[in-house]
Amino acid sequence: MELILKNIEQYKVAIEHEPLGDAGEVEQFRIKYLGTKGLIKSLMGEMKNVPADQKKTFGQVMNEFKTFVENKYEGAKSAITSEEKIGLNEDYTLPGREFPTGAHHPLTIIRNQVVFIFQRLGFTIANGPEIEDDWHNFGSMNMPENHPARDMQDTFYLSKGNENEQSFLLRTHTSSVQARVMESQKPPIRIICPGRVFRNETISARAHCFFHQVEGLYISEQVSFADLKQTLYFFVREMFGKDIKIRFRPSYFPFTEPSAEMDISCLICGGDGCNICKHTGWVEILGSGMVHPRVLENFQIDPNKYSGFAFGMGLERICQLKYRVNDLRLYSQNDLRFLKQFSGVV
Ligand code: PHE
Repeated sequence: MELILKNIEQYKVAIEHEPLGDAGEVEQFRIKYLGTKGLIKSLMGEMKNVPADQKKTFGQVMNEFKTFVENKYEGAKSAITSEEKIGLNEDYTLPGREFPTGAHHPLTIIRNQVVFIFQRLGFTIANGPEIEDDWHNFGSMNMPENHPARDMQDTFYLSKGNENEQSFLLRTHTSSVQARVMESQKPPIRIICPGRVFRNETISARAHCFFHQVEGLYISEQVSFADLKQTLYFFVREMFGKDIKIRFRPSYFPFTEPSAEMDISCLICGGDGCNICKHTGWVEILGSGMVHPRVLENFQIDPNKYSGFAFGMGLERICQLKYRVNDLRLYSQNDLRFLKQFSGVV
């Protein structure tokens, strides 16, 4: 018993000199003194050899010793963790730690780029509802009920309570926003309408039941097809670079006359032919045309005094060309592996 007590004093001195500079040393300390095969356990085991009348004192001394060791261990451990927290034991020549930041959705990035280009030309942003009535989406756009052109845009109709009620639908294009602006503003009108649109399509890599458009409208006196071309040329060069080739193809839209679709040289293969451009070297990026006089009349805008052009493009298509996203479903799956690739892009 005497011997053990003397030893404990020596152990204390030794403990004071134990190295406790890092997490590894602190752990070694714990194993050596407090572990299941450690010193405290083996000293406690001596209890059975201590004469009965001294057991109490022995127990007290051992408890006091154990507390001493535990305090030493806890103190060292918390010093290490707080040092780690404030980075005292780090190498300051290492590059800083990365911390996660959010990213814009690729369609947001493209929308902002498109909008910014047109804003520089004096276009302002107009917004409208996603649930539309028939008139703003179709009727006013020269697509009366039963007009075959409605088949171009498979539509989600909202069910009517009874036959006499007005019919509502999910807008199939943001031309409906243009309708609302023509209804409430006098020319000159110079707007772009970014937004989500809906079509009743089966979801696949190439089609989706919703997608995003930016449509534009310019109405003033003496607006000509040349203005339309120059505006869109400017847009394409700003968006895709000076070397891009552009061509217009005659087309048909009920709300424009004449109408044209615009193709650009394929960005993926540089015009040599690939499966994105269906081996033609060209990809279609937008529809456009001079606003049909009947559309102007629908909004009490005199077609003899005013003329205008309109255009509309799908953002997914532009995004596909710029970032080579080949599956439309990726945009709405919220897969972080996809979205993270756009982190830092503005
Ligand atoms: N609204 C047409 C569409 O969604 C695009 C378009 C807009 C075409 C303006 C011509 C003029 O398909």
